[in-house]
Amino acid sequence: MRQSEFEFIRKVVYQRSRICLDDGKREMVSARLTKRLKATSLGTVSEYCALLQSSGADEELAHLIDAISTNHTFFFRENAHFEFVRDRIVPEMKQRRTAEQWPRFLAWSAACSSGEEPYSLAITLQESLGPGWDWHIQCTDISHRILERARHAIYSKDVVSRLTPAKVHQHFQEGIGAQLGNYRVRAELRSRLSFHQLNLLQNDSPLNERFHVIFCRNVMIYFDRPTQEELIARLTRQLLPGGYLLVGHSESLTGIRHSLQLVQPATYRRPPTS
Ligand SMILES: C[S@@+](CC[C@H](N)C(=O)[O-])C[C@H]1O[C@@H](n2cnc3c(N)ncnc32)[C@H](O)[C@@H]1O
Repeated sequence: MRQSEFEFIRKVVYQRSRICLDDGKREMVSARLTKRLKATSLGTVSEYCALLQSSGADEELAHLIDAISTNHTFFFRENAHFEFVRDRIVPEMKQRRTAEQWPRFLAWSAACSSGEEPYSLAITLQESLGPGWDWHIQCTDISHRILERARHAIYSKDVVSRLTPAKVHQHFQEGIGAQLGNYRVRAELRSRLSFHQLNLLQNDSPLNERFHVIFCRNVMIYFDRPTQEELIARLTRQLLPGGYLLVGHSESLTGIRHSLQLVQPATYRRPPTS
């Protein structure tokens, strides 16, 4: 791939997703474009760049973002956050519900990838909230392809092996026939989640509600500082007063202007009176 082609792809990806591709990502971009060339039956990156500039390139732009974005995730990743939900947020919300009488506990997994994060949260909430609670998790990601996987909620034995056998037994159904060796999240848990494609930086967000907790983890690292600041401001507006924002443990908000309180590493709270 020529430098000018890399520059073009970099610009298009930034405009579309705000993902920053520095020079160190050139090899990775080149490898991932090979798949798009094959899928579009084009012979060169130059032809592919021309396709992206043509009218009607919208669908291919979505495929490009799908190919470029990194979707690495796993069940109970950065487990301290799920312990925090169980030990601090849930007891606090139980008290607040009685005092403030809101009907539903609402969470948002803002870059949910293939679903391991929101299903880990769902398991945590189901086990700690107990019966009699109405709760729901909104799940969003920019990638259509990865959202489809999250919706299906089917995971291989290797992927669920991070969970205790008791949790697998309680929350997953073992596949039979063609699905032997795969596990599907049980329908009751799946019904608590809904999935929408969403670019976190787009202006017309379909999410009108405000949340008790937002997970936005391991996505800010791909953005530059102004984008991170814009994103934190948006997420803060979508938190209920007293609600929590959980970011990845390598994603400190140091150096970003924000109005949140630091509760513990990678855990922030919107002040209750704001
Ligand atoms: C590394 S995964 C993190 C998954 C999960 N939150 C975790 O911590 O395990 C990053 C996800 O962010 C998504 N992403 C990247 N840019 C985005 C954007 N502008 N809007 C929404 N999602 C985005 C990618 O598609 C990918 O699924």
